[in-house]
Amino acid sequence: NEGALWGARFASGPSPELAALSRSTHFDWQLALYDIAGSHAHAKALASAGYLSGDEAAAMHAGLDELAARIAEGTLVAAEGDEDVHGALESALIGVLGAELGGKLRAGRSRNDQIATLVRMYLLDHARTIARDLLRVIDALVAQAEAHPDAIMPGRTHLQHAQPVLLAHHLQAHGWPLVRDLERLRDWSVRASVSPYGGGALAGSTLGLDPQLVASELGLARPSENSLDGTAARDVVAEFAFIAALIGIDLSRFAEEIIIWNTREFGFVTLDDGYSTGSSIMPQKKNPDIAELARGKAGRLIGNLTGLLATLKGLPLAYNRDLQEDKEPVFDSVQTLEVVLPAFAGMIATLRFDTERMAALAPQGFSLATDVAEWLVKQGVPFRDAHEISGALVTLCEQRGIELSDVSDEMLAGVSDELTPDVREVLSIEGSVASRDGVGGTAPTRVLEQRSELITRAQAA
Ligand code: ARG
Repeated sequence: NEGALWGARFASGPSPELAALSRSTHFDWQLALYDIAGSHAHAKALASAGYLSGDEAAAMHAGLDELAARIAEGTLVAAEGDEDVHGALESALIGVLGAELGGKLRAGRSRNDQIATLVRMYLLDHARTIARDLLRVIDALVAQAEAHPDAIMPGRTHLQHAQPVLLAHHLQAHGWPLVRDLERLRDWSVRASVSPYGGGALAGSTLGLDPQLVASELGLARPSENSLDGTAARDVVAEFAFIAALIGIDLSRFAEEIIIWNTREFGFVTLDDGYSTGSSIMPQKKNPDIAELARGKAGRLIGNLTGLLATLKGLPLAYNRDLQEDKEPVFDSVQTLEVVLPAFAGMIATLRFDTERMAALAPQGFSLATDVAEWLVKQGVPFRDAHEISGALVTLCEQRGIELSDVSDEMLAGVSDELTPDVREVLSIEGSVASRDGVGGTAPTRVLEQRSELITRAQAA
């Protein structure tokens, strides 16, 4: 079993069945360049503690550079017999430097502290890409809000017409959870920026290597405080998977609305041809596949999180091989978001809104009934009575098959003496929206103020 990282105490090499089960190179090869970076840092720590001479260290770094170049160009790949990326790269290093020098690098480290460090490096890098892509979705939302400062749409609760709102207010309402997701990624990266390197298999090393040197070389803030925790904890991975799932869910809720808005019955939006798909049989179809895939992939992201949590649940300290199962789900979450987010941003940026239709539907379904009640309150009517009067007016309209704006002065007076013709001033959607001018309300001035706050928060994250 040449090139294996263990074997001296075994009479035979691993059975083919074990090797097939155990092998992880088909996914952990994604960590190969991080492994090399870890090796450079570890070689520095070995040299500064006197375990490598200056010449040896120089040769070591040159050998590692050569491996990195071959990995990048795709000429160095894991061999059939390699168990994992760490073993494969040690064999390759020995191939370049010979067994004497190549065999020195493993001193004072274990695959357990290595893998725990590399997965953090990988996630920190990809968290930056995901944050950048998420910011593009937020930018697209903000641009649409800016392009439609006055458009009014039906606001809904229970999916029923409730009160008119600005389209910009609604779009920004999807922006806020995404801004908080950005902030979650930022907060998470502070916790993730810890290096388990130096923890060895579980208990630390006898060699007196400098773990802060390794951490700094790898761009991580500090070494892990506890070698058992450093090698065995995966809460940082699970937390990342949670944030990824939540991003998926936040996109999915918006996706669901786009799918509904895109139906003939709603007709609120038209999707750009470049961001919609056709049907293989129905020539007329134009489907919202990006929104549907975003919604569908949210399920996958949730699955990755729950699978990982299930893996972690019963594990005793310290390292257990079960922990090898942390990588595929979280790699999948990364890859999923890295394809969903750019497509989603493009879909939002190119959406066309039928603002006339939205505005025409906004007052329907008696969505100004609350405005009538609040107008009555301003005339000194207790809200309890105002609610009754406005409700009676709605019933009357329903019986006559008319909207609130169609009622005559006689009908108003017939419902209540309090309903003078002046009530008409609140029976327009523009008046309704403008009057909701408390902090966080849908009045255009508040929505504008809110948008600048949203942009500030997004850029700060
Ligand atoms: N491939 C393992 C993982 O992904 C790291 C190797 C640790 N193996 C071991 N036998 N201790 O977690």
